[in-house]
Order: sequence, then C-alpha cells, then structure tokens
Amino acid sequence: MKKICVIGTGYVGLVSGAGLADFGNEVICCDIDAGKIDQLNNGIMPIYEPGLKELVDRNIKGKRLKFTADVPNAILNSDVIFTAVGTPMGQDGEADLTAVEAVAKTVAQNLNGYKVICTKSTVPVGTGERIKRIITTFKNNGNEFDVVSNPEFLREGSAVGDFLIPDRVVFGVENARAEKVMRDVYRSLFLIETPMVVTNIATAELIKYASNAFLAVKISFINEMSNLADAAGADVHVIAKAMGLDGRISAKFLHPGPGYGGSCFPKDTQALAKTADNFSVNLEVVKAAIRANANQRESVLARIKSILPDLSGKRVAVLGLAFKPNTDDVRDTPAEHIIKGLIQAGASVVGYDPIAAENFKRYYLPDLEVKDSVWEAVENADLTVILTEWNELRGLSLPMLKEKMKQPNVVDARNILNIDELKLLGFTYRNMGRSKI
Ligand code: UDX
Repeated sequence: MKKICVIGTGYVGLVSGAGLADFGNEVICCDIDAGKIDQLNNGIMPIYEPGLKELVDRNIKGKRLKFTADVPNAILNSDVIFTAVGTPMGQDGEADLTAVEAVAKTVAQNLNGYKVICTKSTVPVGTGERIKRIITTFKNNGNEFDVVSNPEFLREGSAVGDFLIPDRVVFGVENARAEKVMRDVYRSLFLIETPMVVTNIATAELIKYASNAFLAVKISFINEMSNLADAAGADVHVIAKAMGLDGRISAKFLHPGPGYGGSCFPKDTQALAKTADNFSVNLEVVKAAIRANANQRESVLARIKSILPDLSGKRVAVLGLAFKPNTDDVRDTPAEHIIKGLIQAGASVVGYDPIAAENFKRYYLPDLEVKDSVWEAVENADLTVILTEWNELRGLSLPMLKEKMKQPNVVDARNILNIDELKLLGFTYRNMGRSKI
C-alpha cells in the first residue's frame, strides 16, 4: 500500500486515482480546477463513464480516496505522484507538454523526501528525461526521486474495467528502487497474475504510442477495405470475420465505420509521426492511416450524396454525435466533419445523441438543432445517417423509421441495421462495405 497523489482529474486521472484506491492505496486526487474538485467532493462526476461513480463512492467510503485543489500539500503527503494532466495536440501535431512540465516544477518545489514521479499522461518518448531535468533544476534540497513511465490503456466507456482488470501493466523504470515502489502500488494485480512489462522509460513511452497507432492502422485498413467492398459488391463483415479467424490478425478492431475519433487515436498518431520526423525516421504506415481516416469521413459524405446528390433544402437526421457509444466525449468525433459537410452542401441537419448532444453543440455548433429522441430527430427527414453504434440505435424499429421519415433513405455508417429488413421495407440504403449485398 502506498500514499499516492494523482495530479489531474480528467478521464485518465480520475479513473486511475479511484482504481489505485480500489487496489488498497491511499489516494488523493488533485486538480487546479477548484470547481471540479468541489463537484467531486459533492459526489458529482465531471464526466460520464459507466461504473465510475460507484468506484469513487466505494473508495471514499473506505477512506482511501480524497479530492483536493491544494496540489502542493497533496505532493508533500505522498510517496508516489502520478501525472495525469492533458497533453493536447500542439504545433505541427506535436504533444503540448506545458501542463506536464508545470507539474514537474510543482513536484520539485515540494519534494520533502524520496518520491516516485510517475507519468500516466500519454507523452512523447523523451519526456521522462525532460521531467527528470526539470525536477533536478528546480528542487532546492538533496532529496532523491525517480521518474517512471506507466502508460494507461483505458478505453472510454469501459475505462473502469480496463483499469481494474487490465490486459497488461507497463512500467518504464531506471532502477530497482522505483520498480519496487511500482510493484507495491499495483500489488493487487500481481496477486491475480496480470502480465507486467518492466522496461526502460523510453520503451514504455513508445509502447503506448505503438499500441494506439497499430490499432488506428487496423481501423484505417478495414475502412479502406469497406470502400473497396462497396465498389466490388463484396461483404466487408465476412472479409473481417475470415481475416480475424487467423490468430495472427485477430478479429478485434476490424469494424469499419466513419473513421476513428476520440481523445487518443487522432492525437497520438499525429504525435507519433511527428516524433519520428524529429528523429528523421519516416513512419509511412502511420501517416497513411491518418490520411485514410480523414478520407473516411469524406466517404460517408459521398455515400450520402450518392443517395441525395443535391442536398440543398434537404433535412438530414444525424443519429449519434459522440465518437463512440457509452461516452459523452465528442473530441475528434466524425460527426463534426460530416455535419459541417452536410450544412455546407445546403442540408438542414438535426442531431440526436442519448448523452453527447449538449457537448457537441458546445464544442462545435451551438446553433445545431438537436432533439431529445430519435423519433423527433427523424421526423420528416429526407435521409437518416447513423454515426455512433449506441445500443438504442442498434434496436431501432425500421418500420417506425420509415413511417416518420419523409423519404426512406438511410446511411448506416456503423453497419448496425438489418439489411434484409431495410430491403424489405423499401429503404434506399448505404453502409460501410455491405451496400451491395
Ligand atoms: C483508445 C484505446 O483503445 C485505448 O487503449 C487508449 O488508451 C485510448 O484510446 P478510446 O479512444 O476510448 O480508447 O476508444 P476505442 O474504443 O479504442 O475506439 C477509438 C475509435 O476507433 C472510436 O472512434 C471507434 O469508433 C473507432 N473504432 C474502433 C472503429 O472505427 N473500428 C473498430 O473496429 C474499433
């Protein structure tokens, strides 16, 4: 059991802090945003993440989890400091490390004994070294410290489960002393024999980017295949299924769609390509995946226009605004590009999302017409496009959809609607790689 402070209470920090407390550690989560800390102290979660509130409540009750806006004091009272602050995309796609560097300075100024400073935020290779230099420069005593990289692999929507029962845990450490501390922090996972990869800091930093970039490549690959399948009259689902039966490939992350979005893949692929450029190494495959992803958003618009070539004055219902289901996160959501494209082509767009509609309006289009239910959104629509595979949309009643719409036109960018039923009801439909079957 360790005394831990987690700096940054965003998606990663909050889930990690509450998860580390659940492992039996004494955790204090802090943030410079006092409003957010007030909310958390009043039991209000600043994000939507299934199971998070239960996890937080359980650990507050167990007296293992606290929240504070007093970052220095939290550092003074901890053995391990986790950095989970944002690393947004900066100039040229490079990760912006302003917040990470500010945390390193604060840690240096409050180093009242040996501490392990562990990076959870996704940071480019070399950041551990940078943090070490900053702390060495700004600390004003002889206290020792170690820097560790411990990347997260949390998926939004299932982040709690991913933290508590991970596929693997990665530590990048420089010596046995820091490794021992980290093993103690994750002691509960050793007991259930979770695979642990212990390596140097640079390797740990790259593992995170390599994993995300590889998954992005997989998605872009199957997305391009879906475009070819549509052109050639093939079924991408069967292609993906057969490919996935090959153990070397695996069936996961072979679902075609409107392109990946979210807080990680778009940012991390750009940052990795940029880091490699800085080392004069060309990551052609990663760059191609990024380009293919941008094209994929356009290819959804092309499918819409293949049904309604002239969109001016047409009413288009967009179902699903979050970048994926079970989250209210709209960062880099395909819906942004696609809705803006529709509006530019003269369509009037009405949006629906069970959770993310307000976020979408706030970040992208404050004047967008959004409705509280699918049925209000599709009323009188000339075309419905599905962009997020919410369960509610998987079970959509197609006869009702037809009845509500002005014209029975559907673009199913997540391949969730039943094709036989669409055909039977006389819908004109497109999907991703199954349009001609
Ligand atoms: C991802 C990684 O999975 C996680 O390990 C990392 O720490 C953060 O980034 P997340 O962004 O929450 O997590 O979502 P994920 O479920 O991985 O999906 C990312 C995007 O890819 C979504 O837009 C999703 O719709 C898309 N996707 C995923 C596909 O289009 N097809 C697929 O087969 C899988």
